[in-house]
Amino acid sequence: MQFKNVSVFLSLVAQSWVAKAAAVTTPNDDTAVCGKLADVARSYKSGALRADLLLVNGTIHTMDAAETTATVVGIKDGSIVYVGDSAADARQSFLGSPPTVDLGGRMAIPGLVESHNHIVLMGNRPGYHTPLENAYSVADVQQTLAARASRDAVPPGGFVTTIGGFHSNQFSERRLPTLEELDAALPQHPAFVSIGFNGPSVTNSLGKAYFESATLATGPVAISANGSIAAGVETGKALLTLRQQLTMANRTRGVRDAMAYAASMGITTHLDQGAFQAAGTPADGAGHEDNYAMHDPWLAVYGARQGTVRLRINYLHQDNETGVPALTQRLRNAFPFFGGDMVRTGGVGEFIADLDEYSGGPVFEAAARAAARAGWRVEVHSLTADDFRTQIEAFEKVDAEIGIRDLRWVVAHVPQITTEYLARLKKIGGGVNLSSWQYLAGTGPSAGPPYRTIVDSGIPAGVGGDGMQIAPMNPWVQAYYAVTGRNALGDQINEGQQISRREFLHMYTRANQWLLGGPDEPLLGALEVGRLGDVIVLDDDYFGVQDEDLRKLSSVLTVVGGAVVHDTGAVTGCAASL
Ligand SMILES: *[C@@H]1O[C@H](CO)[C@@H](O)[C@H](O)[C@H]1NC(C)=O
Ligand SMILES: *[C@@H]1O[C@H](CO)[C@@H](O)[C@H](O)[C@H]1NC(C)=O
Ligand SMILES: *[C@@H]1O[C@H](CO)[C@@H](O)[C@H](O)[C@H]1NC(C)=O
Ligand SMILES: *[C@@H]1O[C@H](CO)[C@@H](O)[C@H](O)[C@H]1NC(C)=O
Ligand SMILES: *[C@@H]1O[C@H](CO)[C@@H](O)[C@H](O)[C@H]1NC(C)=O
Repeated sequence: MQFKNVSVFLSLVAQSWVAKAAAVTTPNDDTAVCGKLADVARSYKSGALRADLLLVNGTIHTMDAAETTATVVGIKDGSIVYVGDSAADARQSFLGSPPTVDLGGRMAIPGLVESHNHIVLMGNRPGYHTPLENAYSVADVQQTLAARASRDAVPPGGFVTTIGGFHSNQFSERRLPTLEELDAALPQHPAFVSIGFNGPSVTNSLGKAYFESATLATGPVAISANGSIAAGVETGKALLTLRQQLTMANRTRGVRDAMAYAASMGITTHLDQGAFQAAGTPADGAGHEDNYAMHDPWLAVYGARQGTVRLRINYLHQDNETGVPALTQRLRNAFPFFGGDMVRTGGVGEFIADLDEYSGGPVFEAAARAAARAGWRVEVHSLTADDFRTQIEAFEKVDAEIGIRDLRWVVAHVPQITTEYLARLKKIGGGVNLSSWQYLAGTGPSAGPPYRTIVDSGIPAGVGGDGMQIAPMNPWVQAYYAVTGRNALGDQINEGQQISRREFLHMYTRANQWLLGGPDEPLLGALEVGRLGDVIVLDDDYFGVQDEDLRKLSSVLTVVGGAVVHDTGAVTGCAASL
């Protein structure tokens, strides 16, 4: 399907009308629970997924305030109408007989809420981006890339890419694959596999021939005989030449792929934290995009009623002068929490000032004042041993002048935050969001974040993985890191700061309500009557598997607003992919 980047608003209005007509004429047959894009489209009503579904015979951890377990959840018109133990009682909430899924005793939990990632970038990646988050050897890499090309019928000549979200530390060989190994996996497709923001990268024979072409606008890329491309500008040239060919159709396909991957991992809500503004030069890395256009393919997919996960948009700003001109225009022309249940705006972050000013100073303070006056949420990126201090001190100043206590300002990542500063932030109504990005390449003994200290401090805290460049999206890899303190090499790097599996699950569901804020807070993160019907069914027992196997968990059935958006066939027997 070809999407046009025009008039998303008008098409949303038109489509919600069509969806109403379709709902009347489409029988509620078995196909409606099978997770195909056609079913997803039919489940859209008034711009959001709103379907009926009854889940029975599960081990359902509701994550309500009392952490109740139930066996039955009923979802009607996208919202939860029953949680308990009687399928007969649940059926009384429906007019006819709702599609019913027997979970066969499997563990189910609320759809995960990811409070900090970069899924918008992932959807805009060039090529057929293929997450390597669950590859533990070069053979796994080969298998994952080959499966991507065949499963998704990548046309011959179409680039199969992996851009960020993994590290060679996670492979038993502790290196990237070679050109020959990529040729064996992808004989008919050019390949580009790149670590982090800027490489190093590797390509295969078809990719090498392409990147070495003298006709490229970027100039030929320097590539070793074994296919390796140096980190930095050479990787940047390869990325840029792929990006220069991206069409809107490539991007909407990438968005649907990113959504499908998220649904397979069980993350049903994503708070996106923006991109570094692309300059269109080889200095751009995987974290760069056009902050003013990168949401268009996402809106197109939602407009076509094919959105399968929920997106919340933060606007990243990096002004470098105290007039904060770009942020000022944003605050004049955008609205916080504007949109609907599937996609809406969030706050300003994870940067509010440029890289020289992000940790405080006059531009940072000017941006914070502007956001406070306009009543927006703010989230700032904090990494070093000092930046959280200057940021929290600036927040205190703005709180005293303007007041931020109800706005839920967040300091993110915080690998080195101290008890004193946690208390100061808590006092002005702030919170922290914890990322496990150190898993891939961090080193000990205190790589952070100090999960234990933070949880024990009682400050509002949630987790977000900070995928997809420096870290994986995979929430189960994050669980492994938070629970064990071990990195991808297996080294202990966060001793004494581990948290329990229950604490981690709480921070990835109910606790992240606070970080979303706005209209989402009473609707997401738990399975309770009145909340949105987002449920995931796991392939194994989260509380029972060995630590090493935590990383391999995934969802066998993902439900958003009562609609099945991912289904491996393990529970309903209708094995279908989108
Ligand atoms: C629930 O699932 C278990 C395990 O598959 C099965 O033995 C049992 O028959 C199911 N119970 C009901 C009521 O469907
Ligand atoms: C973009 O789409 C075109 C046409 O569908 C295709 O030929 C090309 O390979 C795609 N490029 C990327 C980088 O996905
Ligand atoms: C490929 O060759 C480059 C230099 O020619 C070297 O630095 C790199 O380690 C090699 N990569 C592999 C995977 O062997
Ligand atoms: C500030 O940002 C503008 C716009 O991005 C840029 O042109 C200018 O060079 C920057 N100035 C400094 C001092 O970095
Ligand atoms: C959590 O922190 C990350 C940065 O680590 C940030 O991008 C994200 O927006 C934060 N989430 C919230 C809800 O503040």
